This record gives sequence, structure tokens and C-alpha cells, in this order.
Amino acid sequence: MRLLILAGLAAALAAPPALARAFPDPQQKPAPGNEAPQTPIAQAGYSAATNYQLQCRGCHLGSGEGAPRNDTPKMAGFVGNFLRVAGGREFLVRVPGVAQAALSDAQIAELLNWILEPGGMAGASTPANFQPYSAEEVGKVRHNALLNLPGTRAGLIARMREQGLAIEDGMGTP
Ligand code: HEC
Repeated sequence: MRLLILAGLAAALAAPPALARAFPDPQQKPAPGNEAPQTPIAQAGYSAATNYQLQCRGCHLGSGEGAPRNDTPKMAGFVGNFLRVAGGREFLVRVPGVAQAALSDAQIAELLNWILEPGGMAGASTPANFQPYSAEEVGKVRHNALLNLPGTRAGLIARMREQGLAIEDGMGTP
């Protein structure tokens, strides 16, 4: 048995290196009709709704319903509550999914406003006096990394609770 394994190993090692493939293949050509260089997403001029589909939907799902199995909280009908507590407005820009999205500051501002504005997925959770984000505001806080995300979020949730807000983030948070 041991001999067989050794013989198999030797055969594998002796396999012609020609079988190895370079990846990605440097000779590979784009598919016909697809020769133009790719446009970076931030320069493609997509709407906020499209940027959401491209950059956020994978985790937050189509209507912001979230996915507790992936630890992704529900934004629909809830996320606007962060604007009701001190530090929450900045938090929404600094969460990694937002701060590190392949979008410009102006596009992030537009996307957050699209989520939070009346008729957006945040629904009635957004306070009535909501002031839209600007590109300048996003630029100022975006690169200020959140070093303790769970702790920061828990603190904000605790402040919401002090105000008697229902924590309907889909995470089963008691
Ligand atoms: C790779 C998965 C992933 C992607 C992509 C992603 N998010 Fe998130 N998002 C999360 C998770 C998980 C959380 C919970 C906090 C954390 O652990 O980061 C979160 C938290 C948030 C929050 C704070 C709400 C809360 O209840 O904590 C906002 C706002 C948010 N995301 C918006 C976005 C937007 C807008 C995009 C697209 C530009 C995006 N996210 C992309 C996974 C993602």
C-alpha cells in the first residue's frame, strides 16, 4: 500500500509541466464585441438604485431585508434610526460596506440619501428633519476607519433602546 502511494506521488511529480496552465492566460482575448476597456464603476454614471444593486444587494438583498445568516442587518424600515442617536450619522458612512465601496464620495452620498429619503428603503425610520448627506461630509468621515465595529454598533443600538425605539434589525437582537 505504502509503495503504491509512493509510486503515485512519483508519477504526479513527474507529470509534464506543460500541463500547467498560466492563470489568467496572458494570451486571452476579450469576447467579440467586448474589446473596449472596462469602465470603473465610479465612472459609469449609474443611478443610486443601480449602484445599490451592484455593490450592496449581494449582502443586504434586494429591498434591504438583510440576511441574518450572513450577519447582515435589515435596513428596510430600520436603518434611519441611526440618525436619531449621537454618532449614528457618521456610522452609516463608516461601515465597511459603505466606506470601502468602489464609489466616489458624491455617489456614496447619493446612495445613502436614496436609502434614507422619504420613499426609500429606510421608510418611516428616518427622522422627519433628515438633512441629506453631501459629498464633502462623506469625504470627511469615510476614511476614518471603524476600529471596533460591533462595539460601536452595540453602543448606538443601546442609545436607540434608551429612546424606546424598537430594534427591528432582523438580527434577533433582544
Ligand atoms: C460583504 C457584505 C456587505 C456588502 C457588500 C455591503 N454591506 Fe452593508 N453591512 C454588512 C454587514 C455584515 C453589516 C453589519 C455591520 C458589519 O458587521 O459591518 C452592514 C451594515 C451596514 C449599514 C449599517 C446598518 C446596521 O444596522 O449596522 C449600512 C448603512 C450599510 N451596511 C449599507 C451598505 C451599503 C449602502 C452598501 C453598498 C454600497 C453595503 N452596505 C454593502 C454587509 C455588507
